[in-house]
Amino acid sequence: RRIDWTPMMAEKGGHKHFMHKEIWEQPRAVADTLRGRMLLSEGDVHFEGWNLSAEKVRSLTKITILACGTSWHSGVAGKHMIESLARLPVEVELASEFRYRDPIVDGTHLAIAISQSGETADTLAAFKEAKARGATAMAICNVIGSAMTREADFSVLTNAGPEIGVASTKAFTTQLVALFLLAVKLGRMRGTLSVPAAQEHLTQLTKVPKMIEDVLKCEPAVTRVSREYMDSQDFLFLGRGPMHPVALEGALKLKEISYIHAEGYAGGEMKHGPIALIDEKMPVVVIAPKQPHVAYEKIIGNIEEVRARGGKVIAIIDEDDEHVATLADQVIRIPAACALLAPVVATIPLQLLAYHVADLRGNDVDQPRNLAKSVTVE
Ligand code: AGP
Repeated sequence: RRIDWTPMMAEKGGHKHFMHKEIWEQPRAVADTLRGRMLLSEGDVHFEGWNLSAEKVRSLTKITILACGTSWHSGVAGKHMIESLARLPVEVELASEFRYRDPIVDGTHLAIAISQSGETADTLAAFKEAKARGATAMAICNVIGSAMTREADFSVLTNAGPEIGVASTKAFTTQLVALFLLAVKLGRMRGTLSVPAAQEHLTQLTKVPKMIEDVLKCEPAVTRVSREYMDSQDFLFLGRGPMHPVALEGALKLKEISYIHAEGYAGGEMKHGPIALIDEKMPVVVIAPKQPHVAYEKIIGNIEEVRARGGKVIAIIDEDDEHVATLADQVIRIPAACALLAPVVATIPLQLLAYHVADLRGNDVDQPRNLAKSVTVE
């Protein structure tokens, strides 16, 4: 029998690009991040080698997250998770900025570096700086033995498997679930989460791999949207609350591989400037699951503002949402997850959108121009 596959195609498991393979690997990748860590009956989380004492965790006054790019976006989502479940203030710092001021860090702070590669020079330098100023250092990394895991007092590995595509996909969603696990763990240790509350959060988490499998079925709908808007010059992405980092991530993904200018905004900021950009040529992707945390009513207001100015609305909505479906030009339906985990599910269609637009434009999806997978220069 003739085999038409090249060794490269075999590595991509039959997918046209590594990015596509990695998008589709996410149900498995997220399951691997969760494996062995959820203690459902105890309402707790187990991290191999966890070495922060209960006393240390209770004495923390602040968490500083240090990261770049997509990993910084997961940090912004992580802030929502940790502040909500562990009631500890979280600052999310762009690692490239952190070192060039005089940051306020002391021994009551926990510095968390988030990085797929564990080698990003800006993140590593900021992490060392926070550590030198007395912070306890934790890394959330995909690569075991990387510089950041060596620098850290404790590491949570995301276990996503190798990510080859320059555009980060499974690294992001696995960082999100790792941060959610951490938020539950800190919440239990700090006494802000009861056992039943933690059990409920972990139960929600167990549903995520299957939800990702389900949301991947939206690919044909996303491909149609991609064909329609592949020649646009600009895109806007809007989301509120935990969906704000998803909007930022959707915009970053699109610009890095399709080379289309894209901006991510918190919906409430529209009226403070970006609304001036809206005209009939501007597609606006609105991430609008039906939840109080993401100010569903307000995001509908954003959709109406865009429509009133002739802009085109592509709405990411819950499966059963008939209301927004009547307002938007196109809808992409996703399974309803709880507010703090919805970013994991809502990100998938945006990854697929960036992928298909870039592919339709004939771009080198896995090796976009001017970018490196791991940025080891400051
Ligand atoms: C993501 O699609 C980008 N290629 C980029 O922003 C990346 O997330 C950033 O360079 C940080 O990399 P890291 O997670 O390996 O530290």
